[in-house]
Parts: sequence; structure tokens; C-alpha cells
Amino acid sequence: MSITISVPKETRAGEQRVALVPDIVKKLSAMGASIRVESGAGELAGYADADYEAASATIVAEASALYHGATIVLTVNPPDSGQIAHLDNNSILIGYLNPWSETYRFHTLQEKHISAFSMEMVPRISRAQAMDALSSQASIAGYKAVLMAASLSGKFFPMLTTAAGTVRPSKVLIIGAGVAGLQAIATARRLGAIVEGYDVRAAVKEQVESLGAKFVDIDIKAEGSGGYARELTAEEKQLQQDILARHIAAADVVICTAAIPGRPSPRIITTAMVEAMKGGSVIVDLAAEGGGNCELTQAGQNIVHQRVTIAGPLNVPGTVPNHASELYSKNLLNMLGLIIKDRAIHIDLEDQILKDSLITHAGEIVNPAVRDRLQNAGV
Ligand code: NAI
Repeated sequence: MSITISVPKETRAGEQRVALVPDIVKKLSAMGASIRVESGAGELAGYADADYEAASATIVAEASALYHGATIVLTVNPPDSGQIAHLDNNSILIGYLNPWSETYRFHTLQEKHISAFSMEMVPRISRAQAMDALSSQASIAGYKAVLMAASLSGKFFPMLTTAAGTVRPSKVLIIGAGVAGLQAIATARRLGAIVEGYDVRAAVKEQVESLGAKFVDIDIKAEGSGGYARELTAEEKQLQQDILARHIAAADVVICTAAIPGRPSPRIITTAMVEAMKGGSVIVDLAAEGGGNCELTQAGQNIVHQRVTIAGPLNVPGTVPNHASELYSKNLLNMLGLIIKDRAIHIDLEDQILKDSLITHAGEIVNPAVRDRLQNAGV
């Protein structure tokens, strides 16, 4: 059976990324697949329909022609209900599927016998690094958050010596030093700021220091499962707030990235802590999507509270659409490398990467966490 891979234009408001870039189209063609791309799908990421055609893709204007007969559909965001309705029964869907909320859509995917792979569920193991879209996109978010902070700040990041005198470098505090946080530290250092990093996982200290930043050491060790953090106890939260308050008050810029998968973002910065900051300081809260690390954060907005700017940007990787799409596309290519063997589809359910990321398959919801969530919600 020939393999047809279809790439729709993303429908989510403000999304500029595309699931496949032309270079990766070429590679997939070499693996025996024919590629269809919805007209204009790459436009906002900097790729014209002609670039895809030059890479041997077929440009399709009608949704029916895009989905009908597609063996595999690749998306960035979870498909909307209209797109799901178009999917062929028994086809494969790969993309961000948001398995922690909006789970209702999995029933339809189940009914249509779709094999739906969620890029968020790719395990954080060494072999899966090449498919790890959470990491590729988080790294972009960390970089861009620092640029956003620099442009919102009324201060230079580097020390500048001028004929008029010398200005001191900005002090930047990064809260949460996972993939996004470490990239934020590296970016703020490149801009010349004095940087501190903080995380509840003790293993991070060395990584923060290797990037030339100071680690804020609070005696909390909150390693959870799968390399992630666990939620803090009430006593731990209090200790964290007492110590972090001093560092936040001294900072010109705070970048927040703290997250716990499937849970609301931990609340770390209180209103009182914001009010103790210097006028003109900036907080960029990358955790805004999950409710924010700062209690004043408003998702998707920049607000000013007592002369402190608090930005709660959403979909930050989508604001660097060219490189974000390129990296995401490579993640998908590597994922497809596990599924396409000798020009045929083979889903090996014993492969941990495929097993962990597969949500629906053969008419069942096969991911236990999503199944439990749907049962608990009574859906
Ligand atoms: P994430 O986006 O879930 O969280 C971001 C950071 O926030 C984490 O470092 C977490 O420890 C920290 N955090 C959570 N609660 C906090 C709190 N109350 N205060 C301060 N910090 C808090 O995590 P991310 O960045 O997606 O990955 C976390 C870790 O997963 C990595 O650092 C690494 O250890 C592991 N990982 C492993 C990979 C692999 O081996 N293939 C690939 C990527 C990540």
C-alpha cells in the first residue's frame, strides 16, 4: 500500500507554525511517501506553496482532497472537530493532541479507529531525544522569553561603559531550569546579564552553573517521576517563597518556566513579591498557559502592576515560526522513522516511544492516563 502523508494548514488562532517544512518533505518522499500540503500551510512560517512543490509535494486547496486517502495526517495543534470529521477511518494522526485536557476529542478518534500519537507523550528517554517536540519547542520559548523581557525592560542587559558613565548590567532570575529555563539562562548570559537560576530538582544546579549562572540553593529536593518535578508541600512552598522573595526583589527581570506535567503551574510569585520589586522590572511568565507562576499573570496579556510589567505570552514557540517548524518537522520525521519501515507502515506496540505516545488505536483508547481521565470525567 502506498503511503500518503497530508499536512493541513493550522486552524488555531495565531498559530504560525506548520508541521512539515519543504526539506523534510524531500526526506519523506525518499522514504516512499507521497506528500500533500494544504495551500498556504507554510506561508506564515516563511514557506511558499512553490517551495513545497519544488520538494515534490502536491498542493491541495480542498479539505476533502487533502484528507481523503491520507494514510498519515501531521499537525502542530490538536485537530479541530471539522478536521477530525475529515480524517479517514483507520488512518494515523500525529501532532500535539493535548492529552491533559480537551480529552473529549479522543472518543471520536477512537470511533474512527484512528491511531493517534500525541507528541506531548513521547517519553523523556535518551533514545527519544530526536522526537522530543516538548524539548525542541521549549528551547525556542526560553530563548524568545528573554528577548521579550529585554524589549519590555527599560534597562540594558549588558554592562555598558560610555563617555557619559557606566550602566550596570541587568540582573535576571530564571525560575524553573528545565529545557526552556536553561535556554533562557544561556540567552540572557549571551546578552550580558548577570543571571541566577532556580529549580526544585537538585540535579539542575550543575547545569545552571555550567551556563555561567548562579544557582539559588534552597534546601528542597522535589524530583518526581520521569525526570519531572513533583508538587511541593505547603511547608516547602513557604520556604521557597521566603528565600526567593529576596532574589525576586533584587532582580530587574524574572523569567518563569516552572511546570508540572498535567497539573496547574505552581504559584511561586505572590502579589506582595511583585510589589517589592523595583519600578521598571519585568516578569515574563512562560507558565501562563497553565495558569502562571505569578499570581498576577493574565494569559495572553501584558499588564503593569505598580510599575512592574508582567507578561503572560501564549504559544511563544509559534512566534519563532520558521525555526520552530523546522525543528518540529525533524521531530516528526524521526517519529515517522519508527513507523515507516521498508516503505510500509508498521506500528510496533512494543516500542516504548510508540507505546507511550499512542492514545487511540484499533478502536480503543489505549493510553491508561487518558482513559482514566475520560472515565473520571464521565465522558
Ligand atoms: P517542565 O516544563 O515540566 O518544567 C520546567 C521546570 O520547572 C522543570 O525543570 C521543573 O523541575 C521546574 N519546576 C517545577 N516546579 C517548580 C517549582 N515549584 N519551583 C521551581 N521550579 C519548578 O520540564 P521540562 O523542561 O520539559 O523537562 C524537565 C526535565 O525532564 C529536564 O530537565 C530533564 O531532566 C528531563 N528531560 C529529559 C529528556 C531526555 O532524556 N530525553 C529530554 C528533556 C527533558
